[in-house]
This record gives sequence, structure tokens and C-alpha cells, in this order.
Amino acid sequence: MDARDRLIVALDVPSVKDAESMVTRLGNSASFYKIGYQLGLAGGLPFAAGLIAAGKHVFLDFKLHDIGNTITHGVASVANMGATFLTVHAYPQTMKAAVEGARGSKLKVLAVTVLTSYDNDDLAAAGYKLGVSELVARRAEQARDLGIDGLVCSPEEAANLRGIVGSKLALVTPGIRPAGSAAGDQKRIMTPAKAIAAGADYLVVGRPIVEAADPKAAADAIVAEITEAKNKGN
Ligand code: C5P
Repeated sequence: MDARDRLIVALDVPSVKDAESMVTRLGNSASFYKIGYQLGLAGGLPFAAGLIAAGKHVFLDFKLHDIGNTITHGVASVANMGATFLTVHAYPQTMKAAVEGARGSKLKVLAVTVLTSYDNDDLAAAGYKLGVSELVARRAEQARDLGIDGLVCSPEEAANLRGIVGSKLALVTPGIRPAGSAAGDQKRIMTPAKAIAAGADYLVVGRPIVEAADPKAAADAIVAEITEAKNKGN
């Protein structure tokens, strides 16, 4: 796989106009874009369809969770749109229904095991008996057994999760910060090279690219780092 296709640029911008201008500035330096609620619910879906028509890959980070029938049909709609990645919460019913909705398409369903803003106290308050690490491990096993295509995880979890899911599932990691860039609100960060060495298949990068003075140069530098890390690993 081309190193460029491992970089997913998080288009966390408020409007389609901002997104269009970022995509134009990045040109061929980015081939994969993540669209979340902010842009998706502000006209970002027709925009995403346009990106796909222009040959880009799109990751819809909508973290779906609902009854199985609703998930299957919703995921089928995303598959028909031609998206490459879609996130769902890692509940067994939801994952099973999502796999069903994506069947026969090129859409890959990614599961979010436990939101990284949750700690053990948050899980207890929500009624869970398991702590974060046990719940992440259980849900990773369930995702693997239900035919999910990949997991979203922090780069620190990547090596451990690789041990649970093997090489079949893609590991997609946010929390990436090239050396010297601001952490912002991310607490557990890793450089692109370290994340690849830890087993990440795809890196999700937002602010270090979209808020850079020269986003194209920032993206090119990350791709170069991915290439180097991959060459070292082989
Ligand atoms: O700007 P930054 O590089 O921190 O953006 C990371 C992207 O990954 C954001 O879109 C954020 O919502 C997403 N994300 C994350 N941590 C998670 C899951 C998703 O930062 N655990």
C-alpha cells in the first residue's frame, strides 16, 4: 500500500467551503479524508460524495449505535455512497448488523471499543462492571469474531490490540503528533513513525495538518515519515 493512503486527514472544519479550500490546498498530498459530525451535519455528505467521485477515500466517523435493523440499513446507505471507512460503537448487536449492511461492498466497518474520554469511573457511572482495559480487550475479541474490518485505537493500545486481533483487522490511530507540533487536547500522543512501528495501519491526523501554515508540506512530511518507518520495519 502507498504510504500516502495510510494518512487520513481529519477535516475538522466548520463548513464545506473551508473543507473545499483545504482539499484544494492539499492536492495530491492527501488521498484519504475523515469527516465527522461537525462537517457531515453541515452539508458534508454531498461534499463527501464529491470527494469520492474525485477519486479520494472517505472515512465517515459517525460512531453509529442503534437497533440492528436501523444499523444494517444505515450502513448499507453509507456503502452505496462509496465510502471506504465508517465507525460504529463496538456493541455486539451493532457490529453484527453493521457487517451485514456492508456485505458485498467495499465499505470497511471500524469499531470504536471504548471512547478515549472514558476512564474506569466513567464506565462505573454508566453501569459497567469492567474497567477500560478489560472492556477494550473484550470488545476487540468480539469485533474480530463478528467480522469487523478494523478498530480505532490510540497508538499506545495498538501493540496490545494487534496481539488480540492479529493482522486481519486494520488498526486506525488518532492522537498523532509529529515531533515539535502542539499536543492540543490530546493527552496520549505518538509521532507518525512511532505509531507505525507500534503496529498502526492508518494514521488519523487533524490539527497538525489543517492548522499548519503550509498543510501540504505538513502532510508530505508525515507521509515521508510513514514511508521511512515502513521501510525500517520491513
Ligand atoms: O486534530 P487531531 O489530530 O487531534 O484530530 C484527531 C481526530 O481523531 C479528531 O477528528 C478526533 O475527533 C478523532 N479521534 C480522536 N480520538 C479518538 C477517536 C477519534 O482524536 N479516540
